[in-house]
Amino acid sequence: MKMLMFISIALFLMACQPQTMVPQDENNTQADTVYYLNLGQQYAQNAQKKLASNLKQAMQESGPVGALNFCHEQAIVLTDSVVAGDLLDLKRVSDKNRNPDNVANDAQLAYINQAKSQLLAGQNPPAVVHELNDQMVAYYPIVSQPGCLQCHGSQQTDIAPETLQAIKEHYPDDKATGFAVNQLRGIWVVTMAQHPSGNP
Ligand code: HEC
Repeated sequence: MKMLMFISIALFLMACQPQTMVPQDENNTQADTVYYLNLGQQYAQNAQKKLASNLKQAMQESGPVGALNFCHEQAIVLTDSVVAGDLLDLKRVSDKNRNPDNVANDAQLAYINQAKSQLLAGQNPPAVVHELNDQMVAYYPIVSQPGCLQCHGSQQTDIAPETLQAIKEHYPDDKATGFAVNQLRGIWVVTMAQHPSGNP
């Protein structure tokens, strides 16, 4: 199931081509914006694949609770491990985070709130990119799907008791339950080096 989750995130990311361009800085042209949105998406997809292949193994060896334990120990380690070269940082954050290290800051919260309204209105929230401290920072929405609910859905009806127990043991301050499908579970935040020309 965990594997399913990662496959579905990967599919979602692949389906989620940047839909609008939001140049937020006059130094960056629309071409730059598209370039960084696409580059950041590739980085997020690569991290996703790495998570998926490792979690597939954890699921096969020890089931959902084992996969949860694996996620607890390895999710951030794995996403950090792909950071190299022009990819300066890559992480998942949320307003309702499970891991206390994945809390969204004010700028990320503003995007999250906007994306939530867009989802409610039946729209696909577009990815955005902006310049910050000479770096390019892109956000990509992560939307909940049926496979997510066994670890992020209703504590009464979706999450198995042994899974809930493991969640509470690892994450006493967990905020990441109570989700239904098609809600904003969090976002990818991808920080990239800026090339002087905006191109490779
Ligand atoms: C087997 C249980 C399980 C399933 C299924 C699952 N997650 Fe998670 N999820 C976790 C755990 C555990 C963490 C915390 C990982 C860590 O400690 O870094 C987490 C963290 C996250 C985060 C990072 C932000 C945070 O809350 O810390 C996002 C985003 C996320 N999950 C999205 C999803 C989505 C989307 C799905 C379905 C496609 C999904 N998850 C399915 C267990 C699960």
